Amino acid sequence: MKTALLGCGTVGTEVLRILDNSNDFDVRKILIRTSKCDSRATTDFNEILIDPEIELVVEVMGGIHPAYEYISACLKSGKHVVSANKAVIAKYLNEFIELAKENHVSFLFEASVGGGIPCLSEILRISRFDQVFEFSGILNGTTNYILSLMDKQATSYEVALMDAQKKGYAEKDPTADVEGIDVQNKAAILAMLSYQCKVNVEDIPTVGISNITDMDIAYFQKKKVTCKLKACSKNHGDAMTLYVMPVLCRSLFSHVGSNDNIVSIASQNLGNLQLIGQGAGGAPTASAVVSDCYDILENKTVSLKLTKTIPIDNSKEQYHFYVRTNKIDEDLFLSYEEESGTLFAKTKKMSILDMMTWIQSHPNCFIALWEE
Ligand code: HSE
Repeated sequence: MKTALLGCGTVGTEVLRILDNSNDFDVRKILIRTSKCDSRATTDFNEILIDPEIELVVEVMGGIHPAYEYISACLKSGKHVVSANKAVIAKYLNEFIELAKENHVSFLFEASVGGGIPCLSEILRISRFDQVFEFSGILNGTTNYILSLMDKQATSYEVALMDAQKKGYAEKDPTADVEGIDVQNKAAILAMLSYQCKVNVEDIPTVGISNITDMDIAYFQKKKVTCKLKACSKNHGDAMTLYVMPVLCRSLFSHVGSNDNIVSIASQNLGNLQLIGQGAGGAPTASAVVSDCYDILENKTVSLKLTKTIPIDNSKEQYHFYVRTNKIDEDLFLSYEEESGTLFAKTKKMSILDMMTWIQSHPNCFIALWEE
């Protein structure tokens, strides 16, 4: 199948390596930004768009613009598209699905959540006869790598982040990783597929790990809990719980380290299913991208209709939270410990919504949900 690649970074390079080694794909053109490293490289997207022989376009450039315009143009001109770009998919999935349908082509995006973990195709397989009503996950390799290194090797936050960047796990601007935006995008995609509904990604309350310190990690070790950045969701029918925040885990999640991700789903017939694997990095992500390319070659399509709207409501579930602050708050605290003016508190039971509201006005504090 004659193919073009949009982008040739960490993931693109690995996709190209795998496709070039296969007898099933013929990569004709590679859209790059500047220097030409390959005779197939071009900086002109139109060369790809107007080439009638190119049937499949693989988008691994990331970012919303011009990825949105390029994907839309390819679908409209009757080319299949495979994308790993969670930011553009979280925002425009419904539009891409409709465009693909109208133009009788496929739009596949397995690599956009969980890197090499085949979680989206599993959700869609189940959804043919069952409904996923709950999911949670560690969905960002960079932050999981940072938290694991800080916990197991006493590495500083800054050094661990630099290491994750060197290994090709982090986004071009790692703010998206450490502030939870990357997980927010992935959580939106998981919710859309799990509940077959529309989700406005900006409506998902999100707290990242950029404020975590060595003091937090030492406290968690003392309490025998492990901090993980999690996305959590439950479909209550009339509304869904959906949020991204640090969680203090004791369960299986606490053992998922390094750049690994875990995706946990629950449906009526299947019960609970957990999928674990490398969630970031060139080769694992490329593996999911190329699997999609093979699905297209074998005429496998995805049938998905995102018609319903389920509002996000995080007021239904109540938990205790960890708060690191330097000011006593009698209304909030159940108990606290103090060390050199820093307070490590456990809050009274409160809703996720209330905690999310509290942290907005306390930007220098660190919070995490105490898992029960
Ligand atoms: N920056 C992302 C991560 C890449 O660390 O998980 C994979 O989506």
